[in-house]
Amino acid sequence: MKGADVDEGILGLFREGEGFVSGEELSRHLGVSRTAVWKHMKGLRAQGYHIEAVPAKGYRLVAAPDRLTPRQIMAGLPARRIGGSVICLKETESTNAVAFKLAEEGGVEGTVVIADAQSAGKGRLGRVWLSPPGVNLYCSVILRPPISPVAACQLTFLSVVAVARAVEACTTVTPQIKWPNDILVSGKKVAGLLNEMNAETEKVNFVVLGIGVNLNMRADQFGTTLRHPATSLFEAGGVEVNRVQFARTLLAELDRLYEVFLKEGEAPIRSEWLERSRICGRGVKVSCGEREFSGVVEGLDAFGALLVRLSDGKLETVLSGDVSLIN
Ligand code: BTN
Repeated sequence: MKGADVDEGILGLFREGEGFVSGEELSRHLGVSRTAVWKHMKGLRAQGYHIEAVPAKGYRLVAAPDRLTPRQIMAGLPARRIGGSVICLKETESTNAVAFKLAEEGGVEGTVVIADAQSAGKGRLGRVWLSPPGVNLYCSVILRPPISPVAACQLTFLSVVAVARAVEACTTVTPQIKWPNDILVSGKKVAGLLNEMNAETEKVNFVVLGIGVNLNMRADQFGTTLRHPATSLFEAGGVEVNRVQFARTLLAELDRLYEVFLKEGEAPIRSEWLERSRICGRGVKVSCGEREFSGVVEGLDAFGALLVRLSDGKLETVLSGDVSLIN
Protein backbone atom coordinates (compact mmCIF):
# COMPACT_ATOMS: atom_id res chain seq x y z
CA MET A 1 0.00 0.00 0.00
CA LYS A 2 1.34 3.45 -0.97
CA GLY A 3 1.83 6.16 1.69
CA ALA A 4 -0.99 8.31 0.31
CA ASP A 5 -3.33 5.28 0.37
CA VAL A 6 -2.51 4.62 4.03
CA ASP A 7 -3.28 8.29 4.81
CA GLU A 8 -6.56 7.98 2.91
CA GLY A 9 -7.35 4.69 4.68
CA ILE A 10 -6.78 6.27 8.10
CA LEU A 11 -8.97 9.27 7.24
CA GLY A 12 -11.65 6.93 5.86
CA LEU A 13 -11.72 4.93 9.11
CA PHE A 14 -11.95 8.14 11.13
CA ARG A 15 -14.92 9.21 9.02
CA GLU A 16 -16.70 5.84 9.34
CA GLY A 17 -16.41 5.50 13.08
CA GLU A 18 -17.31 8.05 15.69
CA GLY A 19 -14.74 8.81 18.36
CA PHE A 20 -11.52 6.85 18.87
CA VAL A 21 -10.03 4.21 16.59
CA SER A 22 -7.32 2.07 18.17
CA GLY A 23 -3.85 1.72 16.67
CA GLU A 24 -4.42 -2.03 16.50
CA GLU A 25 -7.68 -1.63 14.54
CA LEU A 26 -5.99 0.75 12.10
CA SER A 27 -3.03 -1.55 11.61
CA ARG A 28 -5.32 -4.58 11.06
CA HIS A 29 -7.65 -2.81 8.60
CA LEU A 30 -4.86 -1.25 6.58
CA GLY A 31 -2.46 -4.18 6.72
CA VAL A 32 0.47 -2.11 8.01
CA SER A 33 2.46 -2.21 11.26
CA ARG A 34 1.57 -0.16 14.37
CA THR A 35 4.80 1.79 13.83
CA ALA A 36 3.69 2.65 10.32
CA VAL A 37 0.33 3.86 11.68
CA TRP A 38 2.16 6.08 14.18
CA LYS A 39 4.38 7.51 11.41
CA HIS A 40 1.35 8.28 9.23
CA MET A 41 -0.37 10.05 12.14
CA LYS A 42 2.72 12.25 12.41
CA GLY A 43 2.58 12.95 8.66
CA LEU A 44 -1.13 13.79 8.75
CA ARG A 45 -0.55 16.18 11.68
CA ALA A 46 2.17 17.89 9.63
CA GLN A 47 -0.43 18.38 6.87
CA GLY A 48 -2.65 20.26 9.32
CA TYR A 49 -4.90 17.47 10.62
CA HIS A 50 -5.62 17.82 14.32
CA ILE A 51 -5.45 14.24 15.65
CA GLU A 52 -5.78 13.43 19.33
CA ALA A 53 -3.98 10.35 20.73
CA VAL A 54 -5.07 8.87 24.07
CA PRO A 55 -3.35 5.80 25.58
CA ALA A 56 -5.60 2.69 25.65
CA LYS A 57 -8.17 4.43 23.46
CA GLY A 58 -6.34 5.22 20.26
CA TYR A 59 -6.63 8.10 17.82
CA ARG A 60 -9.43 10.58 17.10
CA LEU A 61 -9.73 13.14 14.31
CA VAL A 62 -10.58 16.45 15.93
CA ALA A 63 -10.37 18.70 12.85
CA ALA A 64 -9.25 18.50 9.24
CA PRO A 65 -7.52 21.48 7.59
CA ASP A 66 -9.79 23.71 5.52
CA ARG A 67 -7.57 23.36 2.49
CA LEU A 68 -9.16 22.67 -0.86
CA THR A 69 -7.46 19.50 -2.07
CA PRO A 70 -8.82 16.73 -4.31
CA ARG A 71 -8.36 14.20 -1.53
CA GLN A 72 -10.36 16.20 1.04
CA ILE A 73 -13.10 17.04 -1.42
CA MET A 74 -13.49 13.61 -2.97
CA ALA A 75 -13.54 11.65 0.31
CA GLY A 76 -16.99 10.11 0.67
CA LEU A 77 -18.48 11.84 -2.41
CA PRO A 78 -21.14 9.69 -4.12
CA ALA A 79 -19.66 10.87 -7.49
CA ARG A 80 -22.09 8.96 -9.67
CA ARG A 81 -21.54 11.54 -12.38
CA ILE A 82 -19.96 14.58 -10.77
CA GLY A 83 -16.65 14.68 -8.91
CA GLY A 84 -14.95 11.58 -10.34
CA SER A 85 -12.02 13.87 -11.06
CA VAL A 86 -11.32 16.99 -8.99
CA ILE A 87 -8.55 19.47 -9.84
CA CYS A 88 -7.58 22.03 -7.20
CA LEU A 89 -5.47 25.03 -8.19
CA LYS A 90 -3.83 27.60 -5.95
CA GLU A 91 -4.62 30.45 -8.31
CA THR A 92 -5.88 30.73 -11.86
CA GLU A 93 -7.47 33.43 -13.99
CA SER A 94 -10.86 31.74 -14.04
CA THR A 95 -11.88 28.17 -13.21
CA ASN A 96 -14.44 28.43 -16.02
CA ALA A 97 -11.67 29.15 -18.53
CA VAL A 98 -9.62 26.17 -17.24
CA ALA A 99 -12.62 23.82 -17.32
CA PHE A 100 -13.66 25.03 -20.78
CA LYS A 101 -10.19 24.31 -22.17
CA LEU A 102 -10.13 20.88 -20.50
CA ALA A 103 -13.53 20.09 -21.98
CA GLU A 104 -12.37 21.14 -25.46
CA GLU A 105 -9.47 18.74 -25.04
CA GLY A 106 -11.87 15.90 -24.15
CA GLY A 107 -12.14 16.29 -20.34
CA VAL A 108 -14.73 13.84 -19.02
CA GLU A 109 -18.18 14.68 -17.71
CA GLY A 110 -18.14 15.43 -14.00
CA THR A 111 -14.61 16.86 -13.94
CA VAL A 112 -14.43 19.61 -11.31
CA VAL A 113 -11.98 22.53 -11.29
CA ILE A 114 -11.61 24.47 -8.05
CA ALA A 115 -9.27 27.36 -7.28
CA ASP A 116 -8.28 28.95 -4.01
CA ALA A 117 -8.16 32.33 -5.80
CA GLN A 118 -8.97 33.71 -9.27
CA SER A 119 -7.08 36.62 -10.80
CA ALA A 120 -9.78 37.30 -13.42
CA GLY A 121 -12.97 35.69 -12.08
CA LYS A 122 -15.77 36.11 -14.63
CA GLY A 123 -19.26 37.23 -13.68
CA ARG A 124 -22.39 37.47 -15.77
CA LEU A 125 -22.73 40.13 -18.47
CA GLY A 126 -18.96 40.67 -18.64
CA ARG A 127 -18.69 41.68 -14.98
CA VAL A 128 -15.81 40.77 -12.67
CA TRP A 129 -16.27 38.18 -9.90
CA LEU A 130 -14.23 39.13 -6.81
CA SER A 131 -12.09 36.12 -5.98
CA PRO A 132 -9.64 36.68 -3.08
CA PRO A 133 -7.65 33.67 -1.73
CA GLY A 134 -8.46 31.46 1.24
CA VAL A 135 -12.04 32.50 1.86
CA ASN A 136 -14.55 31.47 -0.81
CA LEU A 137 -15.45 28.74 -3.26
CA TYR A 138 -14.73 29.15 -6.99
CA CYS A 139 -15.72 26.01 -8.81
CA SER A 140 -16.45 24.87 -12.38
CA VAL A 141 -17.94 21.54 -13.46
CA ILE A 142 -17.87 19.97 -16.93
CA LEU A 143 -21.13 18.35 -18.04
CA ARG A 144 -21.95 16.62 -21.30
CA PRO A 145 -25.74 16.33 -21.18
CA PRO A 146 -27.58 14.71 -24.10
CA ILE A 147 -29.77 17.78 -24.68
CA SER A 148 -30.30 20.48 -27.28
CA PRO A 149 -28.69 23.93 -26.81
CA VAL A 150 -32.07 25.60 -26.07
CA ALA A 151 -32.51 23.33 -23.05
CA ALA A 152 -29.07 24.08 -21.59
CA CYS A 153 -30.26 27.01 -19.48
CA GLN A 154 -32.18 24.46 -17.39
CA LEU A 155 -28.79 23.52 -15.96
CA THR A 156 -28.53 27.01 -14.49
CA PHE A 157 -31.65 26.31 -12.45
CA LEU A 158 -30.24 22.96 -11.40
CA SER A 159 -27.03 24.62 -10.15
CA VAL A 160 -28.90 27.36 -8.29
CA VAL A 161 -31.04 24.80 -6.48
CA ALA A 162 -27.89 22.80 -5.59
CA VAL A 163 -26.23 25.92 -4.12
CA ALA A 164 -29.38 26.76 -2.12
CA ARG A 165 -29.51 23.21 -0.72
CA ALA A 166 -25.79 23.35 0.21
CA VAL A 167 -26.24 26.71 1.96
CA GLU A 168 -29.10 25.24 3.99
CA ALA A 169 -27.11 22.10 4.85
CA CYS A 170 -23.92 23.91 5.92
CA THR A 171 -25.21 27.10 7.59
CA THR A 172 -28.15 28.47 9.53
CA VAL A 173 -28.88 31.23 7.04
CA THR A 174 -31.87 31.12 4.69
CA PRO A 175 -30.91 31.38 1.02
CA GLN A 176 -33.24 33.01 -1.44
CA ILE A 177 -33.10 32.46 -5.17
CA LYS A 178 -33.27 35.44 -7.53
CA TRP A 179 -33.88 34.88 -11.25
CA PRO A 180 -32.01 33.69 -13.12
CA ASN A 181 -28.96 32.63 -11.18
CA ASP A 182 -28.32 34.52 -7.97
CA ILE A 183 -28.51 33.41 -4.38
CA LEU A 184 -29.30 36.16 -1.91
CA VAL A 185 -29.31 36.29 1.86
CA SER A 186 -31.31 39.14 3.37
CA GLY A 187 -31.42 40.82 -0.03
CA LYS A 188 -27.65 40.67 -0.63
CA LYS A 189 -25.90 38.42 -3.15
CA VAL A 190 -23.83 35.52 -1.73
CA ALA A 191 -23.48 33.34 -4.81
CA GLY A 192 -23.60 33.59 -8.58
CA LEU A 193 -23.48 31.23 -11.52
CA LEU A 194 -21.97 31.54 -14.93
CA ASN A 195 -22.68 28.62 -17.24
CA GLU A 196 -20.82 28.51 -20.53
CA MET A 197 -21.55 26.17 -23.40
CA ASN A 198 -20.00 24.66 -26.52
CA ALA A 199 -22.71 23.44 -28.89
CA GLU A 200 -23.73 22.67 -32.43
CA THR A 201 -27.19 23.52 -33.83
CA GLU A 202 -28.85 20.42 -32.47
CA LYS A 203 -26.52 19.17 -29.82
CA VAL A 204 -24.65 20.36 -26.75
CA ASN A 205 -21.01 19.27 -26.78
CA PHE A 206 -20.42 20.37 -23.19
CA VAL A 207 -21.50 22.86 -20.57
CA VAL A 208 -19.27 24.37 -17.89
CA LEU A 209 -21.20 25.18 -14.72
CA GLY A 210 -19.33 28.02 -13.01
CA ILE A 211 -20.26 28.55 -9.38
CA GLY A 212 -18.93 31.23 -7.05
CA VAL A 213 -20.00 31.30 -3.41
CA ASN A 214 -18.90 33.98 -0.93
CA LEU A 215 -18.27 31.81 2.10
CA ASN A 216 -15.97 33.60 4.56
CA MET A 217 -15.18 36.90 2.83
CA ARG A 218 -15.20 39.82 5.22
CA ALA A 219 -17.23 43.00 4.63
CA ASP A 220 -14.12 45.11 3.99
CA GLN A 221 -13.05 42.76 1.15
CA PHE A 222 -16.01 43.68 -1.05
CA GLY A 223 -14.81 47.19 -1.91
CA THR A 224 -17.18 49.84 -3.18
CA THR A 225 -17.45 49.09 -6.88
CA LEU A 226 -20.04 46.30 -6.82
CA ARG A 227 -23.18 46.86 -8.86
CA HIS A 228 -25.43 44.96 -6.46
CA PRO A 229 -25.12 44.68 -2.67
CA ALA A 230 -23.14 41.55 -1.75
CA THR A 231 -22.33 39.65 1.40
CA SER A 232 -20.86 36.32 2.51
CA LEU A 233 -22.33 33.44 4.47
CA PHE A 234 -19.95 34.34 7.31
CA GLU A 235 -21.10 37.98 7.40
CA ALA A 236 -24.74 36.86 7.24
CA GLY A 237 -24.58 34.03 9.76
CA GLY A 238 -21.68 35.01 12.01
CA VAL A 239 -20.03 31.57 11.72
CA GLU A 240 -17.07 30.53 9.51
CA VAL A 241 -18.10 28.01 6.85
CA ASN A 242 -15.79 25.04 6.28
CA ARG A 243 -14.86 25.31 2.60
CA VAL A 244 -14.14 21.63 2.12
CA GLN A 245 -17.43 20.59 3.69
CA PHE A 246 -19.29 23.17 1.59
CA ALA A 247 -17.61 22.04 -1.63
CA ARG A 248 -18.43 18.40 -0.92
CA THR A 249 -22.03 19.14 -0.05
CA LEU A 250 -22.45 21.23 -3.18
CA LEU A 251 -20.95 18.57 -5.46
CA ALA A 252 -23.11 15.85 -3.85
CA GLU A 253 -26.25 17.98 -4.40
CA LEU A 254 -25.25 18.71 -8.00
CA ASP A 255 -24.75 14.98 -8.52
CA ARG A 256 -28.22 14.18 -7.11
CA LEU A 257 -29.99 16.86 -9.10
CA TYR A 258 -28.19 16.02 -12.33
CA GLU A 259 -29.31 12.41 -11.95
CA VAL A 260 -32.91 13.61 -11.50
CA PHE A 261 -32.55 15.92 -14.52
CA LEU A 262 -31.30 13.12 -16.77
CA LYS A 263 -33.96 10.64 -15.61
CA GLU A 264 -37.03 12.83 -15.10
CA GLY A 265 -36.32 16.01 -17.04
CA GLU A 266 -36.36 19.59 -15.81
CA ALA A 267 -39.87 19.67 -14.24
CA PRO A 268 -38.96 18.58 -10.66
CA ILE A 269 -36.05 21.03 -10.62
CA ARG A 270 -38.17 23.85 -12.00
CA SER A 271 -40.78 23.31 -9.28
CA GLU A 272 -38.15 23.35 -6.50
CA TRP A 273 -36.67 26.51 -8.05
CA LEU A 274 -40.12 28.18 -8.11
CA GLU A 275 -40.89 27.16 -4.55
CA ARG A 276 -37.57 28.47 -3.27
CA SER A 277 -37.54 31.70 -5.28
CA ARG A 278 -40.95 32.82 -3.95
CA ILE A 279 -41.08 35.07 -6.98
CA CYS A 280 -44.41 33.89 -8.42
CA GLY A 281 -47.13 36.49 -8.02
CA ARG A 282 -44.62 39.21 -7.08
CA GLY A 283 -44.16 42.53 -8.84
CA VAL A 284 -40.80 42.94 -10.59
CA LYS A 285 -38.87 45.52 -12.55
CA VAL A 286 -36.99 44.05 -15.53
CA SER A 287 -34.02 45.67 -17.31
CA CYS A 288 -32.98 44.10 -20.62
CA GLY A 289 -30.30 46.30 -22.16
CA GLU A 290 -31.95 49.66 -22.93
CA ARG A 291 -35.43 48.35 -22.21
CA GLU A 292 -37.13 48.48 -18.80
CA PHE A 293 -40.58 47.33 -17.79
CA SER A 294 -42.56 46.17 -14.76
CA GLY A 295 -45.08 43.42 -14.25
CA VAL A 296 -46.13 40.45 -12.16
CA VAL A 297 -44.28 37.09 -12.38
CA GLU A 298 -46.41 34.15 -13.51
CA GLY A 299 -43.71 31.46 -13.57
CA LEU A 300 -40.93 29.99 -15.66
CA ASP A 301 -41.29 28.30 -19.01
CA ALA A 302 -39.61 24.97 -19.74
CA PHE A 303 -36.52 26.79 -21.03
CA GLY A 304 -36.04 28.84 -17.89
CA ALA A 305 -37.42 32.11 -19.25
CA LEU A 306 -39.29 34.24 -16.74
CA LEU A 307 -42.94 34.88 -17.62
CA VAL A 308 -43.98 38.40 -16.64
CA ARG A 309 -47.56 39.72 -17.08
CA LEU A 310 -47.56 43.43 -17.91
CA SER A 311 -50.31 45.82 -16.77
CA ASP A 312 -51.80 45.84 -20.30
CA GLY A 313 -52.29 42.07 -20.04
CA LYS A 314 -49.47 41.15 -22.42
CA LEU A 315 -47.20 38.24 -21.34
CA GLU A 316 -43.46 38.95 -21.68
CA THR A 317 -40.98 36.07 -21.91
CA VAL A 318 -37.74 37.28 -20.33
CA LEU A 319 -34.69 35.33 -21.49
CA SER A 320 -31.98 37.51 -19.98
CA GLY A 321 -31.55 40.70 -18.00
CA ASP A 322 -31.69 42.02 -14.45
CA VAL A 323 -34.82 41.49 -12.40
CA SER A 324 -35.58 43.18 -9.07
CA LEU A 325 -38.59 42.79 -6.81
CA ILE A 326 -40.73 45.89 -6.39
CA ASN A 327 -43.23 44.67 -3.76
C1 BTN B 1 -22.50 36.18 -11.59
O1 BTN B 1 -22.19 37.24 -12.16
O2 BTN B 1 -23.39 36.16 -10.75
C2 BTN B 1 -21.80 34.91 -11.93
C3 BTN B 1 -20.57 34.69 -11.10
C4 BTN B 1 -19.87 33.38 -11.38
C5 BTN B 1 -18.55 33.25 -10.66
C6 BTN B 1 -17.95 31.90 -10.78
S1 BTN B 1 -16.57 31.69 -9.72
C7 BTN B 1 -16.17 30.18 -10.49
C8 BTN B 1 -16.40 30.36 -11.97
N1 BTN B 1 -15.22 30.93 -12.59
C9 BTN B 1 -15.44 32.16 -13.06
O3 BTN B 1 -14.59 32.86 -13.63
N2 BTN B 1 -16.70 32.53 -12.83
C10 BTN B 1 -17.45 31.48 -12.16
